[in-house]
Amino acid sequence: MGRCFVTRRLPGTALDRLAAAHEVEVWPLRLPPGPGELGSCLAGADGLLSLLTDPIGVAVLERAPGLRAIANYAVGVDNIDVAEATRRGIPVGNTPDVLTETSADFTFALLMAAARRVVEADAAARRDWVTWEPAALLGVDIHGATLGIVGRGRIGGAVARRAEGFGMRVLHSERSAGEPLDELLAASDFVTLHCPLTAETTGLIGARELGLMRPGAVLVNTARGPIVDGDALATALSEGEIAAAALDVTDPEPPPPGHPLLSAPNLLLAPHIASASERTRAAMADCAVNNLLAALAGERMPHCVNPEVYEQSPPSATRRSP
Ligand code: GLV
Ligand code: GLV
Repeated sequence: MGRCFVTRRLPGTALDRLAAAHEVEVWPLRLPPGPGELGSCLAGADGLLSLLTDPIGVAVLERAPGLRAIANYAVGVDNIDVAEATRRGIPVGNTPDVLTETSADFTFALLMAAARRVVEADAAARRDWVTWEPAALLGVDIHGATLGIVGRGRIGGAVARRAEGFGMRVLHSERSAGEPLDELLAASDFVTLHCPLTAETTGLIGARELGLMRPGAVLVNTARGPIVDGDALATALSEGEIAAAALDVTDPEPPPPGHPLLSAPNLLLAPHIASASERTRAAMADCAVNNLLAALAGERMPHCVNPEVYEQSPPSATRRSP
């Protein structure tokens, strides 16, 4: 039996399975623990179940000398210093696959809502619906448009399948394959981002890239906020360089009061909910708990982002020497 720290209550029953095998402490508050608090909570922990709002860097890991496993409740692991975890022999798990279709659904919801001005339409219908108007709330067509998908992993692929059903032409670009990014930006009516956040993709869409996009284009980001330069996007929207943007992610999250994106026109904002269906959030909890249970039993995590830990040494042997 080990000690596990879980940084938030999770939907579904997965934590009951964890608690049946280990001593489990769950952070009870709505806001995440600060780095100091997280360090204290991890002092005697063998396993950590973290959220994307928990930065796990060297300072936190230093304070968790007995930590044998980190299971992130997300597919992205950019909140974790994975190289440092690897150096310490700690496997890091994520939750791929279970959230792919749900995230693609929401990406499409944002794309369609931005194109057809659904949020504005709701407000207008309540406030100002006097008669049927030929030129009110005109949007852009989705069918027949070209969708540029940046990063074609699982979620990008699932978005592509939806786009084909809607009669869109699909382009994709990826570091090593597909359309060069500049050409994709210039040729697309909609651009949607599905790459992980890495040093390479930070600021991938900046002023220059927004300038390459079509004047009527719509940008959708359900990946990670820092992939887009928020100031440059606010300027591009204000100056009508692109028609609209729909963001499920920002940098930082939430955007603080006064952030330029909050006053930018034609911006649709959601609070990082692409994977938020009841079934998927429970499945993510199951996946994270399975990762933790396996690692604490000395087995390979089913979804490990740094499998090289299993080659360098047995997961718990070298690092725990006094
Ligand atoms: C959510 O953003 C995730 O990475 O799962
Ligand atoms: C993320 O899971 C992706 O591969 O798109």
